[in-house]
Amino acid sequence: MQSDKSLLEIVGDLHQEIEAATLGSKKDAEAFRVRYLGQKNGLVTNLFKRIREVPPEDRRSTGQQLNALKKRAEARLEEALAQARDEQTTHADIDLTLPGRRPLTGSIHPLTTTLHDITRIFERLGFTIADGPEIEDDWHNFTALNFPPDHPARDMQDTLFVEASEGGEGGVMLRTHTSPVQIRAMQAGEPPFRLIAPGRVYRNETITYKSYCLFHQVEGLVVDEGVTMADLKHVLYTFARTFFGDDVKLRFRPSFFPFTEPSAEVDIWWKLPDHPQGGRWMEILGSGMVDPNVLEAVGIDSERYTGYAFGMGVERPAMLRYGIDDIRVFYENDVRFLDQF
Ligand code: PHE
Repeated sequence: MQSDKSLLEIVGDLHQEIEAATLGSKKDAEAFRVRYLGQKNGLVTNLFKRIREVPPEDRRSTGQQLNALKKRAEARLEEALAQARDEQTTHADIDLTLPGRRPLTGSIHPLTTTLHDITRIFERLGFTIADGPEIEDDWHNFTALNFPPDHPARDMQDTLFVEASEGGEGGVMLRTHTSPVQIRAMQAGEPPFRLIAPGRVYRNETITYKSYCLFHQVEGLVVDEGVTMADLKHVLYTFARTFFGDDVKLRFRPSFFPFTEPSAEVDIWWKLPDHPQGGRWMEILGSGMVDPNVLEAVGIDSERYTGYAFGMGVERPAMLRYGIDDIRVFYENDVRFLDQF
C-alpha cells in the first residue's frame, strides 16, 4: 500500500482527504468510519502497523502525528454522526402535516353519569343521601322489610349468600336491593325522613343482554305525618319529566312488594320509530306506601307516621338514554365502548 510514498506524506494526504470527505448522511459516516478507522483495513489504522518501518529515533514524533490524524478522523466522524442524528429528529422523521396526537384522557362511565344525574334531581327535590353496606344480613335485607320466613316473596330475588341461611331465615348475603338502607336509616334517626340511597345490588341471575349479577338502584324513602300516595306520584312525575323530558308518558301499574302496601310499578313509554305500536312500556321502578309492619320493625309509630318508598334501576334508564341494547357492556370495560363517552 502506497509504499512508494513516505509515511509522513501519506499522513498529509489522508489529512486532506479526511477534511474533504462529504459526510451528509449516516451512510456517509459509516463508509468514512470503515475507510479510515476500520479495525481490519482502515487507512489510518493500517498506518500504525507501519511504525516499525520508521527509524527508532523518529518513531516518537511519527507516532504523535499518527495519533493526531486518528483523533482528527474520529472528531469528523463524531461530528457527522451528531449531525445525522439531528437531521433525523428535526427533519427526516417529522411530518409537519400530520394531525396532532390527542393526549389520552379518561372519561366518566355512563352509569356513573346516569347515577349522578338521578341523584342530582332528587337532591333538588330536598332528598338527602343515605348509604349502607353491600354485604347485608337477613334481617335488614328481608325480615325487617316484612318478608316472612319461608314466604315465596324471598324467592322474588335470587340471593347470593356469603353465609348460608338456616330454614329460610338468617344468613349473610350480598344485598339484593337497596331497600335495607331504608331500615338502617330509620334505625339511625327519627322521622321525618326524605332520603335516597344509590348503590350496587347483586342477584344470582342468569347473565343475558338484559340481566346481570350486579346492577345499581336508587332507593327513595319519605316518612312523615300525612304522607300520601299523591306525594309519591308527584315526586316520581317530577323526576321522570326532568330525567326523560317534559313529554314523558308514565304509567302506574298495581304490583306487590312485601314492604309496601299498596304497591305500584312505574313504566315509561319509550318511543321506538321502528316499532309497530310506535314504542313500548318499559318498567323503571317499583314503589308504594311503606307497609306499617316495616315502620313498626324499626320502632316508628305507624299510627302517627306514613311514608312512601321507591326503588329504581339505573342500568335501564342509562340504556334507554344512550341507546345501549346489552347490559353486559357496562361491566366489560372494553375501551372501544368506554371511549364513546
Ligand atoms: N326493592 C324493590 C326491588 O328491588 C324495589 C322497591 C323499592 C319497591 C321500594 C318498592 C319500594 O325490586
